[in-house]
Amino acid sequence: MMNRISKLFMPPVVSTYGENVDALFTFILLISLVAFVAVLGCIVFFVIKYRYRPNGPKADVSFTHSTKMEVSWTLATLAVVLFIFGWGFKTFITILVPPKNSMIIEVSASQYDWSFYYPESGVQTSGEFYVPVGRPVELRIQSKDVVHSFWAPNLRTKMDAIPKKINVMWFQLTQTGEFPVYCNEYCGQGHSTMRAKIMGVSQQKFDDWIKQKIAEMKAISTPEAKGQKIFSMVCKGCHSIQPNAAPSVGPSLYGIYNTEVELTNGEKVLINEAYLKKSIQDPWSQVVKGYPTRGMPPGLLTNDSDISNVISYIKSLGNQQPGAK
Ligand code: CUA
Repeated sequence: MMNRISKLFMPPVVSTYGENVDALFTFILLISLVAFVAVLGCIVFFVIKYRYRPNGPKADVSFTHSTKMEVSWTLATLAVVLFIFGWGFKTFITILVPPKNSMIIEVSASQYDWSFYYPESGVQTSGEFYVPVGRPVELRIQSKDVVHSFWAPNLRTKMDAIPKKINVMWFQLTQTGEFPVYCNEYCGQGHSTMRAKIMGVSQQKFDDWIKQKIAEMKAISTPEAKGQKIFSMVCKGCHSIQPNAAPSVGPSLYGIYNTEVELTNGEKVLINEAYLKKSIQDPWSQVVKGYPTRGMPPGLLTNDSDISNVISYIKSLGNQQPGAK
């Protein structure tokens, strides 16, 4: 009955412990509703029954209390609250402690992207990640910059992503499908676009996906292709690569190479390798006019070869002739 109520206003549950979370939530909601109606009912009843009448009985000024009633409603309330505590504590522990045989995925949050690393196979993805149904998955969640929060409503749980700290959460899917992940902690301009997808698939499909990802990783050999891979994990949350794209969190990178751009201080610079490199390493030094002076966090890419691969990729986007505008 309780899960039928929660289904009215919550997205479908797809985790093993989710039904229990919903049942507890609905139970607390119903108890609160009963208490609300009882208290409000008493207020309305007494207001009407004991309203002032010119010729009515006078109020008793030396009233006392009923020990029996006070003890019984205190104990009854205590019993309900302890019951909720016990149920909640048990559920909390279940959600918090991953089973021993869990598959580990390292989750890394950054403005404004989620990326996922599978240590068993070395596979890395961003934006969406595959999970086999029926197998417990342990997420080790960290942030590269500010505090974010990993929230998948269908799982009925969430966990903060904090810099320099690993937070653990786990789940086991009960059905296949695509389930959205949101960032649930305001983290900057692109917060509302910081999303990902859990792809719940069969074990067979999951194995195929891992194999395909490994093959893809091996096939990536040119600097542009390597750069594109890094770009899709680190940069694409804020920078569009489409021609004539609407302004995003950061400037669009389509066809910008070898063009001139105006900075916030009015100075004009040519976008060349040196400028791109500086903008990646020290993003606040030469900000394009119209964008926040402290937008992009420094240190997103630290490895020199990553930086030069990403620059090769940016150069390849709608590559223009020198001097073209
Ligand atoms: Cu990340 Cu909000």
